[in-house]
Amino acid sequence: MLSFIPRKLLQVTATALSTATLVWGQVSSNSSFDVLDYVDPFIGTSNGGHSFAGASLPFGMAKAVADTIGENQAGFAYDTTNVTGFSHMHDSGTGGSPSLGNFPIFVHPGCPSDALDKCTWQQSDRAVLWTPGSPNAHPGYFSISLQNGIHAEMTVTNHSALYRFTFANASMESLSPVVLVDLMDLPQSRTNGTASVDPSTGRLSGNGTFNPSFGIGSYDLHFCADFKGASVRDTGVWTNNRAGVGQTSVSLTSDGSNTPATLSAGAFTRFHAPTANNTLLVRVGVSFISVEQACFNAENEQPDFDFPGTVSEAENTWRKKLDSFRINAEGVSSDLQKVFWSGMYRAMISPQDYTGENPLWQSDEPYYDSYYCIWDSFRGEHQLLTLADPLSQSRMLRSLVDIYRHEGYLPDCRMSLCKGYTQGGSNADVLLTEALLKNISDIDWATAYEAVVKDAEVEPANWNVEGRGGLTSWKTLNYIPTDDYDPYGVGLHTRSISRTVEYAYDDFCIAEMALRLGHQSDYEKYSQRATNWQNMFKADQKSFIGIVNTNFTGFLQPRYPNGTWGYQDPIFCSPLLSFTSCYLNANGHETYEGSAWLYTFFVPQDMAALITRLGGPSAFTSRLSYLHDSGLLYVGDEQAFLTVFQFHYAGRPALSAERTHFYIPTQFNTSTSGIPGNDDSGAMGSFAVLSMMGLFPVHGQDVYLINPPFFKEISIQNKATGKVATIKNINFDPTYKSIYIQSARRDGEPWTKNWIGHDFFYEGGVLELELGSKESSWGTRDEDLPPSMSGR
Ligand SMILES: *[C@@H]1O[C@H](CO)[C@@H](O)[C@H](O)[C@H]1NC(C)=O
Ligand SMILES: *[C@@H]1O[C@H](CO)[C@@H](O)[C@H](O)[C@H]1NC(C)=O
Ligand SMILES: *[C@@H]1O[C@H](CO)[C@@H](O)[C@H](O)[C@H]1NC(C)=O
Ligand SMILES: *[C@@H]1O[C@H](CO)[C@@H](O)[C@H](O)[C@H]1NC(C)=O
Ligand SMILES: *[C@@H]1O[C@H](CO)[C@@H](O)[C@H](O)[C@H]1NC(C)=O
Ligand SMILES: *[C@@H]1O[C@H](CO)[C@@H](O)[C@H](O)[C@H]1NC(C)=O
Ligand SMILES: *[C@@H]1O[C@H](CO)[C@@H](O)[C@H](O)[C@H]1NC(C)=O
Ligand SMILES: *[C@@H]1O[C@H](CO)[C@@H](O)[C@H](O)[C@H]1NC(C)=O
Ligand SMILES: *[C@@H]1O[C@H](CO)[C@@H](O)[C@H](O)[C@H]1NC(C)=O
Ligand SMILES: *[C@@H]1O[C@H](CO)[C@@H](O)[C@H](O)[C@H]1NC(C)=O
Ligand SMILES: *[C@@H]1O[C@H](CO)[C@@H](O)[C@H](O)[C@H]1NC(C)=O
Repeated sequence: MLSFIPRKLLQVTATALSTATLVWGQVSSNSSFDVLDYVDPFIGTSNGGHSFAGASLPFGMAKAVADTIGENQAGFAYDTTNVTGFSHMHDSGTGGSPSLGNFPIFVHPGCPSDALDKCTWQQSDRAVLWTPGSPNAHPGYFSISLQNGIHAEMTVTNHSALYRFTFANASMESLSPVVLVDLMDLPQSRTNGTASVDPSTGRLSGNGTFNPSFGIGSYDLHFCADFKGASVRDTGVWTNNRAGVGQTSVSLTSDGSNTPATLSAGAFTRFHAPTANNTLLVRVGVSFISVEQACFNAENEQPDFDFPGTVSEAENTWRKKLDSFRINAEGVSSDLQKVFWSGMYRAMISPQDYTGENPLWQSDEPYYDSYYCIWDSFRGEHQLLTLADPLSQSRMLRSLVDIYRHEGYLPDCRMSLCKGYTQGGSNADVLLTEALLKNISDIDWATAYEAVVKDAEVEPANWNVEGRGGLTSWKTLNYIPTDDYDPYGVGLHTRSISRTVEYAYDDFCIAEMALRLGHQSDYEKYSQRATNWQNMFKADQKSFIGIVNTNFTGFLQPRYPNGTWGYQDPIFCSPLLSFTSCYLNANGHETYEGSAWLYTFFVPQDMAALITRLGGPSAFTSRLSYLHDSGLLYVGDEQAFLTVFQFHYAGRPALSAERTHFYIPTQFNTSTSGIPGNDDSGAMGSFAVLSMMGLFPVHGQDVYLINPPFFKEISIQNKATGKVATIKNINFDPTYKSIYIQSARRDGEPWTKNWIGHDFFYEGGVLELELGSKESSWGTRDEDLPPSMSGR
């Protein structure tokens, strides 16, 4: 029965090669087009999007921005008023508490009456209003004006930030800038820290011990700040709101109980008025290794304090990075183009490349961090990176395998060198499997396989931060029971439904990997476990909204260890009922950040079996439409992504195309609140790009569901093979009334399947989609549907 692997696909590639190998240079590129004009880093910076607005290189460690008071998970948020400082490292789009933001610097143009004690020092007191309308950002650059007359600009290299502060009132007699550094971070998690100042050069340096924003443990970080453009007047240290000249170092220790201290303190350098252009340059290096390495990073990467040069190098790096995709945007609004390119940009901010900066182990492998979280990024972001930057994707997965080697488990979330919280399954299993299916290079598959099998077999002592819980039940009862008996490890005994469907899917992916690597009996074992979702399917369960019966029967429901059904209202944890009760809280429920309604659709391994369970294609289609129309679905959380396209499995690809346009641009647009939820390290941005690109990847599989792109034509160059894949809309209609595929041709030959494999991108080719204004019979037959485990 379990004949999932689409062998037929592999045979198509020979023709593809002979008819359509385009060279990237021949793909039309609009010479007056600068992709950076279409990246708006402010998208998603208000209303809880938490996108990082500041300066970063692709996957860079240094990320400089102004830190604000408010929802400052990523430092700056548009819906704020006050800046508390400028810091050099951030995460993007995360939920949880604010991340990083260590060692902020702050600048006073001078102190009132030239008295240090009349300046404000500590975090909350020194906050200054920013000038509305002043923030300006593009890839590699951020600027903002403050009401104290300072115009602050910033740019970065991989491990250092460069700030240029311009003082508005040139003739101000009291201009004697004070630059302070605070041993603080955004979540105020510091325990110990030391700040020092060198009285001769003004150099500020130091270290601190901090906590991760969504995980356990602590990390040490170091910084090193140097100056150019003004001479040193005097130096000293400060604590709370008092400062004094002469001391060269201040140390803060906690009582050893690991309780974060909220005391704001640090060192400062005071300058004479700047010598040229009223500007002062501040260069800050960061390192997880040592102060020396932080200084070296800065000196090595920015020897000249060359602000314009650093900006233009960052811009060029981004232009090159964003050049895997080319679109013909004829007729398409510049706003939609911005949704597309900005989404791609945000997908390339994290994970962050900390290679050479990992103090935890010695290795020749790359080390990436801020997988924040894989629970989010396994549903789109890594699929986009597989297309746009397969070489970075390879390095990220090698790093995951190396984390397994040294920590004993793959992470489901990781930040700041620490283990992050697992929200559901062990979804790195999905990423690794997909990488194998998609020919991602240079991965040690034997170790990768060992790692995913450990997830499935060996329960860790603390499964809140790695692996899976309830594995004994999983193997014996074949579901995760509510109120489980599990003395084998410690973890949050909630989410029995969502963990069951995720574990089942993870096991399906492990089965695929086992098959490819020749582990036949494992393949059979994990394929069997992949059917475990059925054990929580309660066939007679109904769902009411208020007192109205929705008429849909059969939902996932909790089950006790003795097999008896429990009950959770199928709409519970949806926007219609107790939406915010379903996080990682101790009194959490049976589904995580979503309802049983939603999780009942999470069977990507066997949609055919699910459709049968739900009463056949027509009943399935009505139910899926109802999910989208009723308010039960929140598209701002990543589990929603696949449901936009699952109509394909019921032979209704036209409805997937309709839904895409239903959500874009109404939920994904160019406003600062233009994403529906936390961006989650670019997950929302990736969804927009993949939806607009047309071919939507089913995570964990070698399957892209075919939809018409939002553009007349789009070409993607695979940077690993150099090959070019082009998708063309024939009869393209930029008003999006003709969004229905009438017929398709791949390299000139009819293509009737409503999906395509990754070989299209790997080998290159041309997919032509003829569009019309009505749903057609294309892609609707049983043999046209995407693969399912149980076959069809
Ligand atoms: C070429 O780029 C310019 C500037 O972005 C734009 O105005 C024009 O519409 C583009 N032309 C096409 C065919 O995309
Ligand atoms: C912002 O700064 C202004 C001016 O210093 C101050 O009055 C206000 O209380 C601050 N607001 C916040 C939220 O800190
Ligand atoms: C700068 O100068 C202008 C005009 O003299 C004055 O209105 C403004 O308050 C000054 N700004 C600062 C921050 O001192
Ligand atoms: C920055 O890091 C990337 C890898 O993440 C690397 O490819 C690039 O060369 C680095 N840039 C510089 C200037 O070293
Ligand atoms: C921080 O620096 C101080 C002073 O140099 C040193 O004693 C301390 O061990 C350092 N802490 C860390 C975590 O590196
Ligand atoms: C902070 O420093 C104190 C005193 O040196 C030490 O006992 C404690 O373990 C340190 N805490 C951390 C989290 O490093
Ligand atoms: C001052 O500004 C001018 C014009 O922008 C520039 O050419 C010059 O290099 C700047 N000087 C310094 C020291 O930054
Ligand atoms: C459920 O079915 C009944 C009987 O066919 C119908 O009257 C009712 O409108 C349906 N409810 C919904 C929410 O569609
Ligand atoms: C099964 O366990 C549940 C919860 O402990 C209990 O309420 C129920 O009565 C049990 N059912 C049977 C048949 O023992
Ligand atoms: C833009 O997206 C946001 C977030 O999804 C949404 O609330 C808003 O209504 C959208 N704006 C427009 C003009 O569609
Ligand atoms: C994987 O690589 C092989 C060998 O180069 C190629 O024939 C095949 O089409 C590729 N498959 C995919 C899915 O990329």
